[in-house]
Amino acid sequence: MAKSKNNPPDSNAQYSARYLDLMSANYGSPNLAMIKGKGAYLFDSNGKKYLDFLAGIATNALGQAHPAIIKAVNEQIKKISHISNFYINPQSLQLAENLRSLFHDVEGKVFFCNSGAEANEAALKISRLSGRYQVLAAAGGFHGRTMGALSLTGQESKKAPFRPLLKDISFFTYGDIDSLKKVISKKTAMVILEPIQGENGVITPPAGYLKEVENLCRKNGAIFALDAVQTGMGRCGGWFGYESEAVEPDIVTLAKGLGGGLPIGAVLVSSKIRSFAAGEHGTTFGGNPIVSAAANAVIKTIKKEKLIDRGLKFQQLLFSQLLKFPEVKMVRGRGLLIGIVLSQPIAKEVVEELEKIGVLANSTSDEVIRIAPPLIITRREIDLFLKSFEKALKIVGKEGVS
Ligand SMILES: Cc1ncc(COP(=O)(O)O)c(C=O)c1O
Repeated sequence: MAKSKNNPPDSNAQYSARYLDLMSANYGSPNLAMIKGKGAYLFDSNGKKYLDFLAGIATNALGQAHPAIIKAVNEQIKKISHISNFYINPQSLQLAENLRSLFHDVEGKVFFCNSGAEANEAALKISRLSGRYQVLAAAGGFHGRTMGALSLTGQESKKAPFRPLLKDISFFTYGDIDSLKKVISKKTAMVILEPIQGENGVITPPAGYLKEVENLCRKNGAIFALDAVQTGMGRCGGWFGYESEAVEPDIVTLAKGLGGGLPIGAVLVSSKIRSFAAGEHGTTFGGNPIVSAAANAVIKTIKKEKLIDRGLKFQQLLFSQLLKFPEVKMVRGRGLLIGIVLSQPIAKEVVEELEKIGVLANSTSDEVIRIAPPLIITRREIDLFLKSFEKALKIVGKEGVS
């Protein structure tokens, strides 16, 4: 229906009804329509303001409407918005240069796609080029929803309706090196895991674990792949989120924060392993000039504003303040990907209260709240989050859990 000039703006409820009518039900029934954003804030269709401590699930690295992204996208769209892979696109070339300079292998290769799942699909295909086909992935891990990426995902509820999935994929216990030792062999093509398991509740493995995984891969001639889709692009104390250990993965997959809110995925492949030859893989939009321009702006801004170091500083502040709440049993994660583990199963209720107060976060289970604010977050906004969190805990504590 066309809107007349005098009609009030559509309310969240109206949007919700339209959503239920129109959209595939796979995301449930969201009840807020977001209309605009600025920095770390979002505004819904009723005009309510939210402090965004989720950032599109660790994706809007520079928040909303960042001037560097606006400028990069505007300038690029005036020149070229898309060309086929028959031609060279200088923006994606620049992005590949930027990414390779952050990778340990100066001769590595870069493949661009459009999402995290696609990046992991590509990693899976690259692993087949080794001549082996058995793949090991971590229980509880999440690698995406396409059939290959889903096959690598260690969460049964997401896989059950879609079986049979890919064969020859086995799972090991994340963080337990003995569990991997039991399944790895000279037949293993690739071991894939996240530096921190994001979707599984921000689970950080013990110090030294990733190095031990790498050593086992080297011993068995298996590809060592890290899925840095959620931990990557400056969110977890380094560019990819595994820098606390001296590892040199053969494959790193990226997406989410890379485009600062625009869709892009990437696979970094070490020169030590065989990557794609002509004709072996491809995608129409991968490395699209506009999205690549945005990603270049993201990298430049993270460097210029020293956002990685800032994230680590804010992690310390958040950890120390959050641990003061008696309701908080533990905090985990690194940089600005943090899991707040509560001593009672009230995470969903607390997230709901936060939303009412005007703060966005999410619960990955009944006990765990995940926060992943944009990297441009300020001290003032962190204080506002902490105050709101205290308030939400009080309300839920008084009301009890129904
Ligand atoms: C670690 C990890 N890998 C892969 C994916 C899938 O990414 P996408 O949703 O872009 O396909 C996600 C998404 O949450 C993720 O956290």
